[in-house]
This record gives sequence, structure tokens and C-alpha cells, in this order.
Amino acid sequence: MYRTHTCGQLRLSDVKTQVTLAGWVQTVRKFGSITFVDLRDRYGITQLLFNESLNDNLENQPLGREFVLQAKGVVNERSNKNLNIPTGEVEILVNEFTILNRSAVPPFSIQDDTDGGDDLRMKYRFLDLRRNAVKKNLELRYAVNRSARNYLHQNGFMDIETPFLIKSTPEGARDFVVPSRMNPGQFYALPQSPQTFKQLLMVSGYDRYYQVVKCFRDEDLRADRQPEFTQIDCEMAFVEQEDILEMFEGLIKAIFKDVKGIDYTEKVERTTWEEAMWTYGNDKPDIRFGMKLGNLKHPSTVFSGKQAEVSASPLAGTTGFGVFDNAETILGIAIPGAAEYTRKQVDELTEWVKRPQVGMQGLVNIRYNSDGSLKSSVDKFFNEDQLKAIANYCNAQPGDLIVVLAGKEEKTRKAASQLRLELAQRLGLRKDTEFKLLWVLDFPLFEYAEEENRWVARHHPFTSPKPDQISVMINNDPKIKDADKYLDHPYANIKANAYDMVLNGNEIGGGSIRIFQRELQEKMFAALGMDEHEQQHKFGFLLGAFEYGAPPHGGIAFGFDRLCAILGGSESIRDFIAFPKNNSGRDVMLDAPGTIDEKQFDELQIRLDLKS
Ligand code: AMO
Repeated sequence: MYRTHTCGQLRLSDVKTQVTLAGWVQTVRKFGSITFVDLRDRYGITQLLFNESLNDNLENQPLGREFVLQAKGVVNERSNKNLNIPTGEVEILVNEFTILNRSAVPPFSIQDDTDGGDDLRMKYRFLDLRRNAVKKNLELRYAVNRSARNYLHQNGFMDIETPFLIKSTPEGARDFVVPSRMNPGQFYALPQSPQTFKQLLMVSGYDRYYQVVKCFRDEDLRADRQPEFTQIDCEMAFVEQEDILEMFEGLIKAIFKDVKGIDYTEKVERTTWEEAMWTYGNDKPDIRFGMKLGNLKHPSTVFSGKQAEVSASPLAGTTGFGVFDNAETILGIAIPGAAEYTRKQVDELTEWVKRPQVGMQGLVNIRYNSDGSLKSSVDKFFNEDQLKAIANYCNAQPGDLIVVLAGKEEKTRKAASQLRLELAQRLGLRKDTEFKLLWVLDFPLFEYAEEENRWVARHHPFTSPKPDQISVMINNDPKIKDADKYLDHPYANIKANAYDMVLNGNEIGGGSIRIFQRELQEKMFAALGMDEHEQQHKFGFLLGAFEYGAPPHGGIAFGFDRLCAILGGSESIRDFIAFPKNNSGRDVMLDAPGTIDEKQFDELQIRLDLKS
């Protein structure tokens, strides 16, 4: 037997027990004639004490870092206890040891605070994975996985695998393709998601499906994107949007409870896409804090039928201040308690919005002093009453600093959203121990693709319009006659039966109620510019299936890696993937992608002739 206990197991109650441990040498410390070794395995660290009787043996076979060691001995109470680790009250008085394997000197130290840079740690990922910090992440990932499976199983969902070698599934990214040896010149695509398969499973009657599944997307990578990532993919038949929201709110709450011990009892807040865009500047708002945007130019924007206060903003009309008068959009943010900011601090904020990543010309500031007086950088143009009205419009309190951005709608919204997040970060309002969920609903069904002058599906082409808008889709020609006026086209306003779940400002999941009638699906494909032949070629199987009793259905997929990263308090999903790729999509450990043998090209009947 290699071991009787793990390195994380022994306690004071085990004193005097004869044990055998096996693990990796973390540190070797010599004090005169005695040697201490910290032995590590997946479960923890135990101190080994080699007394002078083993000195000769140690000299003949010196121990190095990361050696694999088996040690036999008796559990002893430590005189110098380390109460920071569960095994810190005991040590093993070693009477016999065996080096099971030696190790080269590791390229970085295998500790919580490692000296290894990112690239080095990725190259030696198998060593990085020995570190406690990474191990904790993978343990969390496993806990999320177990919790999700339990919940879904309890709710009657069935895990069904779907193939990886398929035909393109459009999720908005490029496909990874795999050449087929048996069908020379033909290629499989790896799934961007199991979307069409889960819909077919609904047609087959498996009315509650799930899968924890790899998806492959050839897109530009960021901290929260990998070319292969994992979804908790789900689909249900005979459901409406409300059923899905209920069921999957339950899933995330169960995960919170099981993994973090958090009782998320309140109902998950909901907002519409349009409201999110105007109130927070983006469609995945972080609602752990307020600082909502004051929409100073178009105060009449209607959110879900609620008319925002119209009268209050003095900036709706002409003001005499050119920057505001020429702007399409003016957005203000009240920074809590920032009226006291020094000139230098305000200048720094101005510089921040002028950086190319944000791209604004500058910002206007209004100090709302604690005594209720107001002072601004545009005092020339506005009297105190007008400033007060602006302040009110931004929900400012005395003591706040209001910053105002003005410019083109999309750019200003984006900048305001970036600034809001940055300010909250600086103010410590984005705590990674706090979790706030939000459903974003009523997304537009279509987006306009300028380069191609056509509509594209905002979610994917299988998403249904809101029931009351099906007729708008059917009764209007999708053709865009005047590209500049695409917003006036009826299609621009069709809302989708789609929803995203947002956690702390990250999109952790998205889904929709699907189209399940052939005619409407054909209409959708046609709206996206696919002629009959292309529809048949790409999606004939789905259109065909819809002729054989497709039930109403809908679903959602969660970004499993993202969910884990947020629950673990990290920005980067890489930390939660055992063997991730770097930002150029490379596995630096394997050195992949790489070339293939001439023989493999021959078998595939492919000749490599790169265009550039
Ligand atoms: P969607 O494309 O929104 O929906 O993806 C669902 C969730 O997957 C996560 N995600 C990613 N995570 C890491 N790296 C990536 N490259 C990446 N891309 C997406 C996000 C996202 O919310 N078939 C539909 C779902 C459905 O309609 O049921 C789909 O895939 O967290």
C-alpha cells in the first residue's frame, strides 16, 4: 500500500498512530541534525520530521523540491504548531522513507504566490495545477458541475450527448472545421453549441434535456472567452418564457447555495434590453450598485410602457452650449460623495474618458456641494436651477459629483457604461463576495449588419419573435431600401422571445423560446438573406423535422467557465479551466495548433497552399 492517509488528513486525535504518507516535497528545511520536509498532495500538507538517525540516508539520497516521496512514521504532536493549516498541530516522526520518483528543479515555485509568469505557468500547466490556488478553482468547478447536475436531475432533465463532428451551427462566430478522410474534400464543423440537436431532441419527445458540453468558436479571445469552452446547455418542451425563467433562476440559486452557501431568496430582478441600454449603457449591467445614467437629452424614452419623467431635464432643447446642443445623446452619472474631489482628480477622470479605448472629447462636471449649492465647469451656460435639475435627473445627492458625457448615441452610451464601471471599481462597489443576478428580456430579434446591408439574428436564427410581433415579421418585406434609415424598418423594432442572465455585470447565460413551425422558420431564414436552396442545404434537417410534430419549446445555455470564474472571484475563465488556451488560441504546453504529417495530408487528399 502506498499510503494509509492523505497529507490533509491527520489531526491531534491521530497522535501515536503509525502511518504511511505519499506526496510531493514542497520544502526541505535543515536545522542542525534534523530535517523538516513539507509533504504535499491534493488534500493538504503534512510536516515530516527526519531526525538524526536518518541523516546518512538523507545524505545518500538528498531530497529536492517536487520529489515524489513515501514516508512511514508515527504521528506526533508538534511543539511549534501552525494553526493556519488543518494538519498544523501534528507532524510525522519518520522512520523510513522511499523516493518514489525524482523531479527536475521546477521552473517556478509551486506555492500560492508563485514567481512563475503566465506563459511559464501555461507551458508547465501540469505543475501549475499542483498549486493550491488553481486546485481550489478546479474544485469549485467540480462543485458547480455537481450542483447543476443534481438540480437538473431532480427536475427531470436527462443528460443526452450530442455529436461534435457536425455541420455548422450558427451562433455568430466562425466554425472550427475538421477534414473528413472518408469524404475527401469535405469538412465537418465543430459545434458552436448543440443548438439544433437540442431542438431535435424536443421534436423526439425528450422534453427536458441538458448537457454539460464543450462548444467551439473561432472568435477573438478575451479574458472571458476561450475557443473551446463549456456550457450547461438546457432545453424544455411545452414551455413559455416564464417557465424557463423560473426553472433556471432555481438552477443558479441552487448552485449559489451548494457552492457558496448563499441563500439567494429574493426574486431575480428583471429589466428590458432597452431599459438596460439607457439606464446602464450596456445589456449586461452590474446592478450591485446604483449610479444609473441620467438620460439628459432624450428624457422621453419609454421603458416597458413606463414613461420616464420628461419635464425635468433642461438639456432636452437648445441650451447655447454647443457641445450639448450638437450631441445626439447626453448622459450624466452622479458619483457618490465625490463633490470633494480635487481639481486634479477631476482632470484625471477627464483624461480617462479621453483615452482611445473610451474615445470621448471630455467631460462636464457639476459639483453638488454638501450645503446644496452647485458649481460646474459650464457655469457660463447654466444657472443654479438648471444645474439642480440636471442633478435631480441623475439622482444626485448633495455631496456628489455629477459627470456628464455628450456625443453620438452609441459611443456615449458605451463610454458612460465604461466610466460607471470604472468609478464603481474605484469606489469599491464591485465586491466579488456580493452576487446580484438580473434577467435582461425583450432583446431585439434582428441586428443590422452594415457591411452586408442585411439583417442578422441577434441571438440565433431559431429564436422566435414575441408572439404579438410574428405578424410584423410575416407581413413586411425584410429588404432594407435605405441603409441609413434601417432603424425605421419595421424589423428593427421586433422584439425577440429571448433572455440573458447577467451576474455582476457578466452575461452568464442566454436563451430563447424557439420557432417551431416550418413556415416561420423559413421566413426567418429568408429575412437573414438565405434563399430556399441555402435553407435546404444548411438546415433542411431541421425544417424537415418541424413537419413531424414539433412541440413548442425553448431553452437556455449557461457559460459554465464564466459562472465558475465569477463565483470564484476571478476575471479570467482560464483560471478555472484545467488546460486552457492563451489569447492567441494556442495551447503552449502542447504547442498546438501545429502542422501535420505529409502522410496525414495524403490520407485527407489535401494539399497545403496557404494564401498568405
Ligand atoms: P450563447 O451564444 O449566448 O447561446 O452562449 C451561452 C453562454 O455561453 C457563454 N459563452 C462563452 N464562454 C466562454 N467562451 C466563449 N467563447 C463563449 N461564448 C459564449 C456565455 C453565454 O451566455 N445555443 C445558445 C443558447 C440557447 O439559445 O439556448 C447559445 O449558445 O456565458
